[in-house]
Amino acid sequence: MSLFSFLKPTAKKATIMPAGISFEVKPGQSVLEAGLSHGYAMPHSCTVGTCGSCKCRVDEGKIRELTNFAYVLEADELQSNMVLTCQTALKSDAVFHIPNFELKQLHPPEDFEGKIVATEDLTHDTKKVVIELDRPIWFDAGQYVQIYSDEVYGGRSYSFALPPAEDGVRNIELFIRKVPGGEFTSALFDQKLAGSAVKVHGPSGNFWLREGRGPIICVGGGSGLAPIISLLEQAVKKPLGRPCVMFFGARSQADLYCLERIEAISKAWDGAFQFIPVLSDEPADSDWNGLRGFVNTAIASEAGQYISSDTQVYLCGPPPMIDAVSETVSELGILENNIHADKFLDASHGLSRAE
Ligand SMILES: Cc1cc2nc3c(=O)[nH]c(=O)nc-3n(C[C@H](O)[C@H](O)[C@H](O)COP(=O)(O)OP(=O)(O)OC[C@H]3O[C@@H](n4cnc5c(N)ncnc54)[C@H](O)[C@@H]3O)c2cc1C
Ligand code: FES
Repeated sequence: MSLFSFLKPTAKKATIMPAGISFEVKPGQSVLEAGLSHGYAMPHSCTVGTCGSCKCRVDEGKIRELTNFAYVLEADELQSNMVLTCQTALKSDAVFHIPNFELKQLHPPEDFEGKIVATEDLTHDTKKVVIELDRPIWFDAGQYVQIYSDEVYGGRSYSFALPPAEDGVRNIELFIRKVPGGEFTSALFDQKLAGSAVKVHGPSGNFWLREGRGPIICVGGGSGLAPIISLLEQAVKKPLGRPCVMFFGARSQADLYCLERIEAISKAWDGAFQFIPVLSDEPADSDWNGLRGFVNTAIASEAGQYISSDTQVYLCGPPPMIDAVSETVSELGILENNIHADKFLDASHGLSRAE
């Protein structure tokens, strides 16, 4: 054996407690990447060190930060050995403490070649985008993919806006909202990406429908409707027998979309289903007879009959909406473990902290 073989980096072992599972982490891999590649439902959302969803404690072993944890973690968390698994590589075998680890088998993320084959305007600032993949993808309803285009630096995350299929899905659908000053969405809305090749990585994300018997409260804001539609259309295929209320937070009537699909879900739902659109910026003199104001206020007044000890809440959309709704449903008595949220963070998130 040559001297240099001792210097070659080798795979290390990550153990997750109290679940008691272990997996190999290859040199250069993050602990999150390695766990997901083995199909473990590691807590995560953004995968790029901005959201904090993968935060956990390291109890044993030596680690290497891939990016500075201080962008996301507070000083006291850093002192208590908290890390971000998506930004952690291993220098030795290590043990992580993840109390809320769910023993569910996920589809390991893979790389796909794709092509944008169709776009359709859903509203003045939201498009449905169809990407044809080189082979079928399997995912859980509510998950997302990362899209890479030669036109834009880095990947962007977009949730599946359709349910999974047994034989996998070749043509994936996404709902993409234009972000002012945003690189990818500007290129998309300027028609620069029509027909273009993209790379697709996924599936990712911990936003899926948990088992249970209690009521379901879904809240989607803006393009955050995508994973909610995916969850609910999947639930229609495999009826749950659980009451469900769906809130759609939008600015005005012009921002409501997918209403036919929601009506179809409502008709096919096995049990009670209520759809409540809430508009925050609808002109006072318009013909709108529905609820006005912020969606969290509407939940506080309308969701009472759906609140019980086993209610599950699924939230998706812009971070301020998620924070406000999470607070409201916690005040209504929903347990933290039963609140599942997918924040649509973008590049502006956390910049002030990083600077
Ligand atoms: C898990 C997840 C799922 C998501 N799913 C969806 C979805 O289904 N649909 C959807 O529409 N979106 C979704 N998003 C958001 C999406 O990934 C993109 O962030 C969004 O589309 C913006 O991309 P962009 O390239 O247009 O903007 P970016 O170029 O990334 O910029 C975003 C904003 O940040 C600002 N910005 C960029 N760089 C800087 C800087 N250096 N300093 C200050 N400001 C800056 C820009 O001006 C812009 O306002 C999701 C995000 C996550 C994390
Ligand atoms: S998944 Fe690690 S910070 Fe978002």
